[in-house]
Amino acid sequence: MKQTVLITGGTGLVGNHLSKLLLQKGHQVKLLGRNEGRFNNLPLYKWDIDAGFIDPKAFEGVDTIVHLAGAGIADKRWTDAYKSQIYNSRILSTRLLAKTLSGLPHSVKNFVSTSATGWYGLNTPEATTEELPAAPTFLGTVCRDWEAETYPIQQSGIRTTILRVGVVFAKESGFIPEVAKPVKLGIGAALASGKQLTSWIHIDDLCQLYAKAITDPTMQGIYNAVTPHPETNQQLTTLIAQQLNKPLILPPVPKWVLKILFGEVADMLAANQWISAQKIQQTGFTFEYPKASDAIGSLLHHTK
Ligand SMILES: NC(=O)c1ccc[n+]([C@@H]2O[C@H](COP(=O)([O-])OP(=O)(O)OC[C@H]3O[C@@H](n4cnc5c(N)ncnc54)[C@H](OP(=O)(O)O)[C@@H]3O)[C@@H](O)[C@H]2O)c1
Repeated sequence: MKQTVLITGGTGLVGNHLSKLLLQKGHQVKLLGRNEGRFNNLPLYKWDIDAGFIDPKAFEGVDTIVHLAGAGIADKRWTDAYKSQIYNSRILSTRLLAKTLSGLPHSVKNFVSTSATGWYGLNTPEATTEELPAAPTFLGTVCRDWEAETYPIQQSGIRTTILRVGVVFAKESGFIPEVAKPVKLGIGAALASGKQLTSWIHIDDLCQLYAKAITDPTMQGIYNAVTPHPETNQQLTTLIAQQLNKPLILPPVPKWVLKILFGEVADMLAANQWISAQKIQQTGFTFEYPKASDAIGSLLHHTK
């Protein structure tokens, strides 16, 4: 059934791709963000999270809310002030959505929220499933509290699904262009030991997953949004170099250098995460890009 979907943080990477996919599937899309007007020709309504304000017009006719908003995790060094922004933009925004929905007549039937595999910490057991408790790290705490703020929404009878998203592979930003940049200059190298596993997902598969969570009434609760085939950092860097026809001659960048360059974010870059995709596959979801070689090929194909 066609729906009207309100996307928070819809001006970002995932929101851009997801809006296009939902329009292709015949849904209507509205956006909620810190600015108002139009974005990509879609209506953009304003919220002010600190002031506890959401334009009530944003909710008109909405069947599903997709909650993506949050300050970029790896955009800046993690100063105390930036950590507060990362935390508050997710926790306070979810709380504001819950509070507004509880105090307003509305038509929202589904809430699809976002979390991250940062939930599981810096070194996971093999094929980690959704039951593992949140790690006692900064990102583990952010994810735990972000997810907890959705409980009142779920308790109010709105079907609530949370995707714990792994490292997103896309052309525009994130892992792929950041690794490709030095590789193109001939100074690419793996990070830390290079042996650490990355649990990743292609942007197209991620958007199909959000679309499924929006329309599949049997989906509820928490799902890891990663492919079934995690890859080592060395292998991913090699695949990117091969795709760009560049040699990879330098040794991996040691963790202590990453620490100097990126501060605490270095821990995230060196994290070893093997996250299971079994639960999402059991819903019948099939990945278009389960293997890193195909995913990287599709994204770097035209950028040599
Ligand atoms: N990309 C990944 O690899 C990845 C991996 C795991 C999880 N995730 C999560 O998935 C979600 C979407 O990711 P993305 O890559 O699309 O992120 P993105 O490109 O950084 O976009 C996020 C959007 O959130 C809004 N936002 C930014 N800072 C904010 C702040 N301080 N307060 C409130 N809103 C703010 C912005 O929208 P407006 O300017 O319109 O307000 C922005 O366009 C994020 O929550 C992210 O943590 C992403």
